[in-house]
Amino acid sequence: MKSKEPASRPKPLALLGKRILLGVTGSIAAYKAVGLLRTLTTEGADVTVAMTQSATRFVTPLTFEVLSKQPVAIDLFAGGQEMPHLSLPERADAVLVAPATANILAKSAAGLADDLLSAMLLNTRCPLIFAPAMDGDMWDHPAVQANVEALRKRGAVVLEPEVGPLASGAVAKGRLPKETVILAALKEQLGRKLDWTGQRVLLSAGPTQEAIDPVRFISNRSSGKMGFALAEAARDRGAEVVLVSGPTALPAPPAVTVVPVETAKEMQAELLRRLPWSTVVIMAAAVADFRPKRPATDKVKKLQHDPHELELERTDDILTRLAERRTTQFLVGFAAETGPIVAQAREKLRRKGADLIVGNNVAAEGSGFGSDTNAAVLVGRQGIIADLAVMPKRQLADRILDAVLSLKEPAPGQKLGRR
Ligand code: PMT
Repeated sequence: MKSKEPASRPKPLALLGKRILLGVTGSIAAYKAVGLLRTLTTEGADVTVAMTQSATRFVTPLTFEVLSKQPVAIDLFAGGQEMPHLSLPERADAVLVAPATANILAKSAAGLADDLLSAMLLNTRCPLIFAPAMDGDMWDHPAVQANVEALRKRGAVVLEPEVGPLASGAVAKGRLPKETVILAALKEQLGRKLDWTGQRVLLSAGPTQEAIDPVRFISNRSSGKMGFALAEAARDRGAEVVLVSGPTALPAPPAVTVVPVETAKEMQAELLRRLPWSTVVIMAAAVADFRPKRPATDKVKKLQHDPHELELERTDDILTRLAERRTTQFLVGFAAETGPIVAQAREKLRRKGADLIVGNNVAAEGSGFGSDTNAAVLVGRQGIIADLAVMPKRQLADRILDAVLSLKEPAPGQKLGRR
């Protein structure tokens, strides 16, 4: 007798309950949006389609209406009281424009709103993804590339088109990205935790440089990577971020306001000025503890000075000043240590008046200055919160943000660390 096969378990639907606003624009690839809509709904998504007038010349709205089981939004003025340019993006978990023409990229980059879809894009606050499709020369044009860069800087995801045969017959980069690529980007964006929405994070990063003369300075080996990783993590979790950074070689993270500074004094002024705006302050910068007392205005000649004579003075402790002036802000400091980390972190927490200290063993392998990874002990007023082994700085940044949130807004009955 044949044994009964166990019933195969249905695959969980990856997009179950997700509300997607699918924008379709006037490209020959508009027909592929039909297949995309089918896949999205098969994966459980609730999809509303918005078409531009030009898109309706390639595919009839009826096709999308039947497949999505919802009316297709086309006309900016058709909604009466409902105002679909506001209501549809507001209720969406993600907005996907596929195919996205050069025209919609340009309109969105410039903030134009002369039809329903472009007006919707101005009202989009959830993740926004563009899947471009156009002629290869159009994609390569500096104007299109500038628009793509502007949109990415603002936090939108603009996928790269595929290379392959185009409608013109030419083989070039301009085909709509593969459905698997579009879906992966969509799922990644939907998976983002936006638990820092509403927080305003003031961060410091990098070293400071304290002038000896016009060409020489005292500084340290901070690359800025830890502070920049924190800025990106906070941004990706929905926070507004201002990053006051000493000199680094890192590119400015998109959708983060970067305030470049050179000296400890400049860093202090910029941070204190922005303190009232912030809800959380994180001092990841390696601020110089000393600076030359009298920097020379002209380059110091080799033989002019005794090499042992460089009079230094202490810089102000920025973290302490921030703690003195804060009102409701949550204050995080770092402690770069080569000795007993927890004891030093506790001491700095108390002396500097922070709420959390990230004790950073800067002598350990793969940890501290310059590396892409870091290890840390998180010490709060309650004691050790987490002892974290070496991991990528971006991952550590997320763990630090998790700890800050749990201390700022502890879950009911949550125990915070041990003494
Ligand atoms: O930039 P990376 O290459 O990625 O390296 C990361 C890092 C090692 C620089 C970072 O993880 C780190 O440990 N930053 C703090 C470095 C430091 O200056 O530590 P500290 O123990 O000397 O200072 C303690 C705290 O006081 C820090 O938050 C520091 O920003 C702050 N401080 C220090 C001196 C000063 N004059 N004003 C301050 O506010």
